[in-house]
Amino acid sequence: MKIFLTGAAGFVGYHVAERLLSQGHEVVGFDSLNDYYSVQLKKDRLGQLAPKPGFTFRQGDLSIRDDVDAIMAEHPDITHIVHLAAQAGVRYSLADPCAYITANMMGHVVLLEAARHLTGLRHIVYASSSSVYGLNETMPFRETDAVDRPGSFYAVTKRAGELTAHAYAHLYGLRQTGLRFFTAYGPWGRPDMAYYKFARAITAGKPLTLYAGEGLARDFTYIDDIVSGVVAALAHEPEKGVSRVFNLGSDSPTPVSRLVALLESELGCKAVIEAKRRPLSDVEATWSSHEEITALTGWRPVVSLEEGVRRFVEWFRAYEPQEADAGSVTDFDCAAG
Ligand SMILES: NC(=O)c1ccc[n+]([C@@H]2O[C@H](COP(=O)([O-])OP(=O)(O)OC[C@H]3O[C@@H](n4cnc5c(N)ncnc54)[C@H](O)[C@@H]3O)[C@@H](O)[C@H]2O)c1
Repeated sequence: MKIFLTGAAGFVGYHVAERLLSQGHEVVGFDSLNDYYSVQLKKDRLGQLAPKPGFTFRQGDLSIRDDVDAIMAEHPDITHIVHLAAQAGVRYSLADPCAYITANMMGHVVLLEAARHLTGLRHIVYASSSSVYGLNETMPFRETDAVDRPGSFYAVTKRAGELTAHAYAHLYGLRQTGLRFFTAYGPWGRPDMAYYKFARAITAGKPLTLYAGEGLARDFTYIDDIVSGVVAALAHEPEKGVSRVFNLGSDSPTPVSRLVALLESELGCKAVIEAKRRPLSDVEATWSSHEEITALTGWRPVVSLEEGVRRFVEWFRAYEPQEADAGSVTDFDCAAG
């Protein structure tokens, strides 16, 4: 396979690239390296990928047609696309909703416009999100549930991505699979996400914000499981003109307070917790049914939260001091005692 991978410098994209390269595939990585979080972290991920045979990378913006056309012209023999580039983050979509239109809606359409002219293209797998379930209260979330009550503008743009994929499958015969990721976490993760922020706060002895409420839970899914799901979905292409979506989550909703306890235990420091009211954009709980993707591909999550947090903290301890040198607040003296 020759795979065009958008968001290759991102958290999930980096791990997907590693797996595909280790399987002997060619990966053409593409990313704008936007500064939503540490650009250095994105460069460091790319630094890990750069020496691997089969990897090429170009910096560019998916919402700019010339950028996408240029890379497609260089690689007209692309057979698969894994589209992960996005303006991520639920809460930031309150601060800058227009960034989500540009990256997630415009970027997706520009990609599909280019994709429909690739003669050897077999299949597009793209990232959707558990956030499309929005205010849905039926648990676990199933692909057959209505997804018309988004709780954030981020969710609006991820749902728009699914609808866009459907139209392009119908109009141009593209085979497409959307994957609704449920709270991916792990090494080389995103510093804007709660588990990473908690780890930084705990080690620095600074207060971390925990939203009040017994029911606050997330279906945390370890990055290697997410990657296995992406790769499994990619290998199971649908019929021509079919667009489908699958949940990709661990089917194991866990109180966020349990995540904090695991981080405390792995980091050996006590958290200073500040309880606040949950913002309207954050849903109370997520819980994925993964029956559909399991039935198609045999995929199952295999990494427990305990093991996943252990692996994250091991990486965090090794990587984060370099970030600290670059101005991050983290040190490893358990400032909170
Ligand atoms: N990590 C999660 O828990 C999670 C959950 C649900 C959905 N998702 C989705 O999975 C995908 C990957 O998420 P992630 O956690 O790796 O996020 P990430 O922010 O680490 O990676 C996204 C990458 O896309 C790049 N990008 C943004 N706009 C771009 C543009 N216009 N052109 C080119 N590149 C652009 C960014 O620079 C970044 O490196 C995203 O689509 C995200 O919405 C992630």
